Amino acid sequence: MTGEKDIRTLLATIHPVRREGEYVYVLWPYGKPLAPAIEAAVREAEGLTAVLPRAEADAMGLHYDFVGAWITLEVHSTSEALGLTAAVSAALTDAQINCNVLAGFHHDHLLVPVADADRALEVLHELAGDTSQRTAAKLLLRTETPEDRDAILALTAAAFSVSPLTGLPVDGEPAEVGLLRQLFDCEEYLPAFSIVAELDGEIVGYAISTRGWVGELGLLGLGPIGVVPRLQRHGIGSALIHETVMRANAAGERGIALLGSPEYYSRFGFVSSTSLGIQPPKPEWGDDFQLLPLAVWPGGIHGTFRYAGPLAAM
Ligand SMILES: CC(C)(COP(=O)(O)OP(=O)(O)OC[C@H]1O[C@@H](n2cnc3c(N)ncnc32)[C@H](O)[C@@H]1OP(=O)(O)O)[C@@H](O)C(=O)NCCC(=O)NCCS
Repeated sequence: MTGEKDIRTLLATIHPVRREGEYVYVLWPYGKPLAPAIEAAVREAEGLTAVLPRAEADAMGLHYDFVGAWITLEVHSTSEALGLTAAVSAALTDAQINCNVLAGFHHDHLLVPVADADRALEVLHELAGDTSQRTAAKLLLRTETPEDRDAILALTAAAFSVSPLTGLPVDGEPAEVGLLRQLFDCEEYLPAFSIVAELDGEIVGYAISTRGWVGELGLLGLGPIGVVPRLQRHGIGSALIHETVMRANAAGERGIALLGSPEYYSRFGFVSSTSLGIQPPKPEWGDDFQLLPLAVWPGGIHGTFRYAGPLAAM
């Protein structure tokens, strides 16, 4: 991956978030025990510089000049972020906003004058938005080929390394990887609904839909769907779902079923399957089992959805 690409993709995921309160830089009094309120510190030959909440500094009678707002860039893995800080500082400098950068183990943090905090957030959101749009414009959605499979499995392992159900890291290979291997080989595999999202030659997202049924009526079962973690939340998952829906309508499919968060999938028109008379394969899935009726949805269908073999066995 090139440095330029790193920056472009990472900028789209900076997620600037302002911490509550105001922060100041103080020269820590020599010999004074360190206070728990210190958020960051730098030791120099001349003494110790500390950053702490303004109210704490005031309570200790410490002198300061600069009063800052603290903005955390929630982008992960600063080790990958070669040049990210420079790009962020340059954008703030262009907007004539003074900015002190603190690099933590997990994230970069910016201290900007309190009066400029809102403007700084605007500049950062604009920077992220611009790159996000560029990413979407360059995204290629295409049918998977057998040569793509290693990359698909690798991205699926990364996307599901944290369980979407529990939010906890998964030990070993996520179950979705083995599931995909089986889906590629099962009878219900539909090549046209195995879709990769490619960015600059790299596979960054993947969605599969396989044949499922209610009674004799064939429907699509969507999932798993995954996006590489560093590029999540800037439209790739949505693009894959829109592409799936478009292909399904063009192919005369009746509807698409899936298990997932109604908060996310409702934006594409998915509704609780039971509202259409279709029961989930497992009753406990409740409203998380959703269905998108397509242009030729027949209506009046009742029954329980059956997934492709490997999905039904999960
Ligand atoms: C779920 C996933 C495919 C979505 O793709 P994406 O490219 O990150 O999503 P998009 O950028 O298109 O959409 C982002 C929006 O969806 C929301 N979103 C994403 N996943 C969500 C979820 N599980 N629940 C609720 N909202 C969700 C985000 O909050 C964001 O909303 P916003 O635009 O209002 O901020 C991707 O995040 C992923 O791979 N996650 C890990 C694996 C997974 O959970 N897969 C789905 C289960 S099979």
